[in-house]
Amino acid sequence: MSEPVRICVTTTSRTYDVLVGAGLLDELGRHLAAVLCPDVAFVVTDTNVGPLYLERACTSLREAGLKVASVTIPAGESHKNLSTYGSILSAMAEAHLTRSSLVVALGGGVVGDMAGFAAATYMRGIPVVQVPTTLLSMVDSSVGGKTAIDLSVGKNLVGAFLQPSLVVADVQTLSTLDPYVFADGMGEVVKHAVLADPTLFTSLEERPVTQDADEAYLCEVVATNVAIKRDVVATDEQERGLRQTLNLGHTIGHAIEAAGSYREGHGHCVAMGLCHIARAAERKGWAEPGLAQRVERCVALQELPIATDITPAEILGQAAHDKKRHGETINVVVPTRIGAVEMRTIDFEQFGELVELGCRPMQSEA
Ligand code: GLY
Repeated sequence: MSEPVRICVTTTSRTYDVLVGAGLLDELGRHLAAVLCPDVAFVVTDTNVGPLYLERACTSLREAGLKVASVTIPAGESHKNLSTYGSILSAMAEAHLTRSSLVVALGGGVVGDMAGFAAATYMRGIPVVQVPTTLLSMVDSSVGGKTAIDLSVGKNLVGAFLQPSLVVADVQTLSTLDPYVFADGMGEVVKHAVLADPTLFTSLEERPVTQDADEAYLCEVVATNVAIKRDVVATDEQERGLRQTLNLGHTIGHAIEAAGSYREGHGHCVAMGLCHIARAAERKGWAEPGLAQRVERCVALQELPIATDITPAEILGQAAHDKKRHGETINVVVPTRIGAVEMRTIDFEQFGELVELGCRPMQSEA
């Protein structure tokens, strides 16, 4: 097996490696034991991922000489709640975890968020190793240390920053994803390209990323995206400035997600939000001509939607509760050209104008 790509992430609280490769699940124990020596490795997974990969992960950990315990939680965002969080903590206590133990989060974003938050709070904090198995969690949520659970009144309202001690991304696990879930990750990939990487954007235009792409291309795309996110969180771990630019497409995307009662995946909503804000920015004269059509085309090539049926009034109604709103103003990340964005603090009325401006696809004007 070839050596994985290694991306080193340095933040104020921790420095760690993100390993990206094919077949890494069977090497998990070796890579983990190279950086940590826990008394117990406690694997948190869910009912989708557990049957596919739990045994392989545990075998690899045991082969590295580690004592292993695990818990399997119900799959799905609807279970990212206080009750499941409590059951993870109880399972950790029943497995007699100590402050020398660690948590291994094996799964997608929900598992990563919940296992990470359990690790951040058990005995006031023990380490976590993230083993993302979806494209979205590989390119986004497993890196950067955000952990959270939902409350009935809103998503991710309770959480903590806990940088992982190691991230191990095995691109072979992408082959078993539902195609919709795979495409969901591409929403964040296109976002990263628009935000910071014209070369990645061109590559996505010329060679759209499909689930059956060769492993080398999948590794390259994941590693490039991890490096983009690394550069942002290294500068601003706690989202006080630059990290807010990762919210490109998210203000409108989150509103679309909530207005549609979370029936559409997060990455699909980010893709629609990205196209929406690109159209608004171009029609407002804030972005260079042609940007929006290029973004739309690239998004469509990754089999993601470019527009929504949700009305501007519904989007505004949801955005009124957005965390990025401060009183009468809201922070919006605006693309100006491929690879460049600016942060604008605008009043809510101006935001309403942007939402109206961005509704109609550019393609209908062509
Ligand atoms: N997903 C955006 C961030 O981690 O800040």
